[in-house]
Amino acid sequence: MSVLSGKHIILGLSGGVACYKAAELARLLTKAGAAVQVVMSEAAEHFITPTTMQAVSGRAVYTSQWDGREANAMPHINLSREADVMLIAPCSADFIAQLAQGRCTELLGLLCVARPMDKVPLLLAPAMNREMWAHPATQRNLAQAVADGAVSLGVGCGAQACGETGDGRMLEPAEIVQELEAFFTPKLLGGERVLITAGPTFEAIDPVRGITNRSSGKMGFALALAAREAGAEVTLVAGPVALPTPRGVTRIDVQSAQDMLRAVEHHVRDARVFIATAAVADWRPATAAAHKIKKDGSGRAPQLSFLENPDILATVAASERARRGELYCVGFAAESDRLAEHAKAKRERKGVPLLVGNVGPATFGQDDNALLLVDETGTREWPRASKRELGRQLVAELSRRLAAARASATTGGGA
Ligand code: CTP
Repeated sequence: MSVLSGKHIILGLSGGVACYKAAELARLLTKAGAAVQVVMSEAAEHFITPTTMQAVSGRAVYTSQWDGREANAMPHINLSREADVMLIAPCSADFIAQLAQGRCTELLGLLCVARPMDKVPLLLAPAMNREMWAHPATQRNLAQAVADGAVSLGVGCGAQACGETGDGRMLEPAEIVQELEAFFTPKLLGGERVLITAGPTFEAIDPVRGITNRSSGKMGFALALAAREAGAEVTLVAGPVALPTPRGVTRIDVQSAQDMLRAVEHHVRDARVFIATAAVADWRPATAAAHKIKKDGSGRAPQLSFLENPDILATVAASERARRGELYCVGFAAESDRLAEHAKAKRERKGVPLLVGNVGPATFGQDDNALLLVDETGTREWPRASKRELGRQLVAELSRRLAAARASATTGGGA
C-alpha cells in the first residue's frame, strides 16, 4: 500500500503546456489511494479543461475564490483545512513570482497563503522554458518561496515544447509521485550512506556474446528506492538491466563482476550499509576474444575455459570497516531448493550478519517475492509481497539493526 493512501492532496495547476501531464499525475495519485482536489488558475484553463481534471480526479474542480458552492463562501479556508499537502504541478514562472510576493489575486495563490503552514506542506513542480527557468528573477523568486516554506521538487532536463532543449521541463508524473511518497516516508535511514548491488553481471566471451543470468534487478532497485525514501544517500551499482533509476539515487552501471567489484570497492569506503542483491556470475571466460568467434565449419564448438569471479560480498564483509562494525553487510541468496539450509550456510560462508534468502527461479523478473531472513538467532519468513513493499520492510529492519548496533556500541557491547 502506498504511503499516499488516504492522503488528501490539493493538486494546483498554474498555466503551462505541462498541464497535459497533470491529468496523468491526478490518475496516478488517485490510483495510489489519495483523494485529489484539483484547483486551477485561469491560465491553466487555457491548457487543459476543468472537465478533464474532474473526470480523472473524480471531484469537481475549483477555479475561483468566488465559487458559490461553498456555503460560507470561503473555498480558500475550507479546502486548505482538509488538505495533507498542496502540490503545484505545473508551477509556472509567474506562479512562483506570485508565491514570492504572497499574492492572493486568484484562488490558487490565495490557498497557498491561507494554508496552515505547519500542517500543510507546499510542494512545487516547476515547468517552463529553459531561459525562463535560468532567469535570475525566477531563481530569486523560487529561493524566496522556498525560504517561505515551499519545497521545490526541481525540474527535468530535455526537449521542451518550444523546441529548445535544457532545464525546465516538469518532472514526469511518476517522478512526482515518487517525490511525494518520499516526502511522506519516515526518515528511518536519515543521513545514512547505503551501497547496493543489483541485477546480473555480463561476462564477455567475445564482442557480441557473453554469459549472464536471469536476474531482473527489481529487488535491488526497489530497495534503493525504499532506502532513498527513508532519507538515505543511496548508490546503486547495477549490472545490465533495463530499469529506470529511482529518483535521487546515484546509479553506476557496470557489466562484469570485476567491474562491479571495482565500483563497490570505490563507493563502499564511506558507506554505513552494503546490500548485495546482485546475481553475480560465478565464472567468467578466461579470455574474452577481441573479435567475434566464427564457426570453422568443423561442427565442433570452441573450447572455453573459465575463471572464478571474485566474491564481492565476501570481500567487503572481510574488510576492516565491516569487521569493526562500521559497515553493516547484508547478503541475498537465490536458491533453487533447500532454501533455509543453503541460506544459513551461505550467511556463515560470506561472514555477514544478515542474509536474505529467496527461491531464485520463482522470483526472477517478478514484481513480488517471499523472503527468508537469516541471522545469528535463526530464520524468519516474510510472506509474499510486492518487491516495493519488501524493500520498505527491509529498510525498517535495517534501521532497527543499526539502532541496536549504535546502542550496543555506546554501552560498550561492540557493534
Ligand atoms: N555475491 C557476490 N559476488 C559473487 C557471488 C555472489 O557479491 N561473486 C553475493 C550476491 O550478491 C549475494 C550473495 O553473494 O548477496 C549470494 O549470492 P548467490 O549467487 O546466491 O551465491 P554464490 O556465492 O554464488 O554461491 P552458490 O553459487 O554456491 O549458490
